Amino acid sequence: MDSISDSLIIRSNEDIFLMLDDLLKKPDADWWDAFYADKTKPVPFFRCIPDENLHSYIEQNIFTRGRILDIGCGMGRNAIYLAKCGFIVDAIDFSSTSINWAEQNAKEHHVKVNFIRNSIFDYQAPTLYDYIYDSGCFHHIKPHRRIQYIAIISDLLKSDGYFGMTCFNQTGGADISDYDVYKDRSMHGGMGYSEQKIRKILQDHFEIVELRNMQNLKDSDLFGMDMLWAILMRKK
Ligand SMILES: C[S@@+](CC[C@H](N)C(=O)[O-])C[C@H]1O[C@@H](n2cnc3c(N)ncnc32)[C@H](O)[C@@H]1O
Repeated sequence: MDSISDSLIIRSNEDIFLMLDDLLKKPDADWWDAFYADKTKPVPFFRCIPDENLHSYIEQNIFTRGRILDIGCGMGRNAIYLAKCGFIVDAIDFSSTSINWAEQNAKEHHVKVNFIRNSIFDYQAPTLYDYIYDSGCFHHIKPHRRIQYIAIISDLLKSDGYFGMTCFNQTGGADISDYDVYKDRSMHGGMGYSEQKIRKILQDHFEIVELRNMQNLKDSDLFGMDMLWAILMRKK
């Protein structure tokens, strides 16, 4: 009898991806469930206020009304703000704990958001979006899944649709190479991107409209930390 389980045989590119997923399990949905279990933790993005760059896209009338997808929505702070501004909002996160919290927050703020418990990699969208927003999810995407992640966003956006994102710069996240992730079998808490690296990764699918450090804000009704890039893109 064959001693090797069928699931350990690599027969396709997806099998290689699954093998790499398995090498780098964390942070998976269970890890994020545990992260969101205590709502009283002093985590900066546990306050129900929106990102300053997202607010600026709306103030500048770059994001006007329409349908928007918030990827990795967490406890729903940006999704709730967008719904208050009049957008039709779908918001996805693979952590059940975060989605439960987000649903409760939306109820308290009297807004309607369509929260979806799923991984973005398994999401079957019912429609295309005018806008997609990702605050802090991209830097947790494992390098071998990044191409797929960007292709999903590009496919889900209408032509000329905007994609806004915040992600760690080299002071916010681990200043390591993609190769280091696999050598160390760790995402080291999230990848820190140099400007050159992030531009290289995004530029095939998107025209970069604005790339800047997020403002560092304290005692504000807007969220801002300068360890993050704030990037506004348009589908090519
Ligand atoms: C740093 S948190 C940011 C949460 C929220 N966007 C905010 O800024 O408050 C990253 C979020 O991405 C979610 N996430 C990571 N990978 C995901 C995936 N493949 N599909 C859906 N959500 C994912 C995590 O569960 C987590 O809630």
